[in-house]
Amino acid sequence: MSEIIKGRKLGFKLEDVQEVYEGPVGVLWEMLMGEEIHVGGPVETDILAEKANITKKTHVLDICSALGGPARHLARKFGCRVSGLDATKKMFEEAKKRTEQEDLTHLVSYELGNSLDMPFETGIFDVVWGQDAWCYVTDKKKLIAEASRVIKSGGTIAFTDWIQTDTMSEKEWEALNEFMVFPYMETLDGYEKLLEETGFEVIEKEDLSEDFARHCHLYQDKLRNELKPSIIEHYSNELFEAADSGLGMWVAAADQGKVGRGRWIAKKKK
Ligand SMILES: C[S@@+](CC[C@H](N)C(=O)[O-])C[C@H]1O[C@@H](n2cnc3c(N)ncnc32)[C@H](O)[C@@H]1O
Repeated sequence: MSEIIKGRKLGFKLEDVQEVYEGPVGVLWEMLMGEEIHVGGPVETDILAEKANITKKTHVLDICSALGGPARHLARKFGCRVSGLDATKKMFEEAKKRTEQEDLTHLVSYELGNSLDMPFETGIFDVVWGQDAWCYVTDKKKLIAEASRVIKSGGTIAFTDWIQTDTMSEKEWEALNEFMVFPYMETLDGYEKLLEETGFEVIEKEDLSEDFARHCHLYQDKLRNELKPSIIEHYSNELFEAADSGLGMWVAAADQGKVGRGRWIAKKKK
């Protein structure tokens, strides 16, 4: 029996995600994707920025900001202020270090904290932003509610995320999520529903799954053809094999249209 699996969560907690991003797997993601750790890199950041109408005057909150690559990209390109929030100390420290090195601390700052309980006052951000990270968050409804709390009335939420796009067996669902340490993935319509229930007007939702599948192949080719020797040298053959087989499973699921990626733009109703 196959169906879109809803209402089920794997037992991953924030500590499990922190462990991943404190360790070699976090480094591996940067080796694969660059310091903007999301599908499509800087090109995708530019697309989201245009859709979110980012200008010099915008104050952006990047939820799950990781190394701060997108935060610095936005500050450099638009001269806007960006606040980043991430729960992993290593990511937070590295983001701060790179921002100091780039001399962008007058525009970009970071907080260490959980997106489900944000250390920010109510109604202060023009744009709440996220790229390919909310799949790690254990309660997407609460996350969207927190985003709504900190956003100004009439402000914008703009994000991309990895999603489930078709039916699959429970076994496959478990294997895909487990490899990534995702408690669960939302669907394209699931996020739309959450946004509407939380008082947002959805302006745009886009299924980017074909592009996602194409990128999964590119990442697996890079892993095999470029990164293999240095992963084995600096870490181990076991890590390379685990990454290769997990990524292979995702490539297959993406090719079969079972997993993908979406983009949502919505406005907080006045
Ligand atoms: C894929 S990376 C994010 C990439 C980043 N958005 C970018 O485009 O460069 C995932 C990040 O989410 C963070 N994270 C996961 N769950 C979190 C939570 N509940 N609160 C805050 N950060 C979280 C992790 O620490 C990790 O740094």
